[in-house]
Amino acid sequence: YPEGVTVRKVGGRIGAVVEGVRLGGDLDEVTVAAVRTAILRHKVVFFRGQEHLDPTSHEAFAGLLGTPVAHPTVPSVDGRYALGIDNERGGRANQWHTDVTFVPAYPAFSILRAEVVPPYGGNTLWSNTAAAYTELPEPLRVLADSLRGVHTNDYDYAAVRPGATGAALEQHRKVFTSVKFQTEHPVVRVHPETGERTLVLGNFLQKLTGFAARDSRGLIDILQSHVERPENTVRWQWRAGDVAIWDNRATQHYGVDDSDAHERTLRRVTVDGEVPVGVDG
Ligand code: SIN
Repeated sequence: YPEGVTVRKVGGRIGAVVEGVRLGGDLDEVTVAAVRTAILRHKVVFFRGQEHLDPTSHEAFAGLLGTPVAHPTVPSVDGRYALGIDNERGGRANQWHTDVTFVPAYPAFSILRAEVVPPYGGNTLWSNTAAAYTELPEPLRVLADSLRGVHTNDYDYAAVRPGATGAALEQHRKVFTSVKFQTEHPVVRVHPETGERTLVLGNFLQKLTGFAARDSRGLIDILQSHVERPENTVRWQWRAGDVAIWDNRATQHYGVDDSDAHERTLRRVTVDGEVPVGVDG
């Protein structure tokens, strides 16, 4: 890493804190390359003290990692690409998921910035889906290599909350569009930059192709349980001005919904990814 930049692991299998970097659209090439290396190696990296970032410089920095893309169904806030995760919009991310897997070339990286954090709770967890794959017993790995799954946005932020009525439904209609997306991915993808095999599961995975609903659910639950195993995860307690960047091709994450009605405002910009390639090409 360049002089003055330190990368310190905060979990055994995933997560590191990067110090000595001031994120922004003007970051030099060598440091951008170092940040990219750290993300690929540690899957999610955390930066404290980035309160100088605003919507414009957040997007400009994202542009150094790839091409920023707007969320397909949730209107942007603050700029051209940012997804707002806050009380007003009612967005909840308390399901294990990989961002936007219901489109063919889902995002490669997500850059999440904390503007307002609650006095307690509201942590986010990430899991290493390459480690989850590696720890599977061999016969299960062989089976997973051959599976494909259908992902839909039925359970996205844009989905109506179960039991929503009246004002909640009206608010939902105002904020979200209801375009449906559906796409099929291999359950195991070969990472285009690291060559690692990672599990492509998460909340948007509806069904394994060619299986009856019950068998599909059982198999998904077995595979997903390895993703959620605490040893494969890291948990981050936000401070305002923190930034987390993750490799969306090698992780799932979960926003813990336990800060009651306290304000929690995060902004996420994602950059374009590739159509996943399975183990057989
Ligand atoms: C997200 O899913 O990108 C947001 C996670 C969170 O709200 O902690």
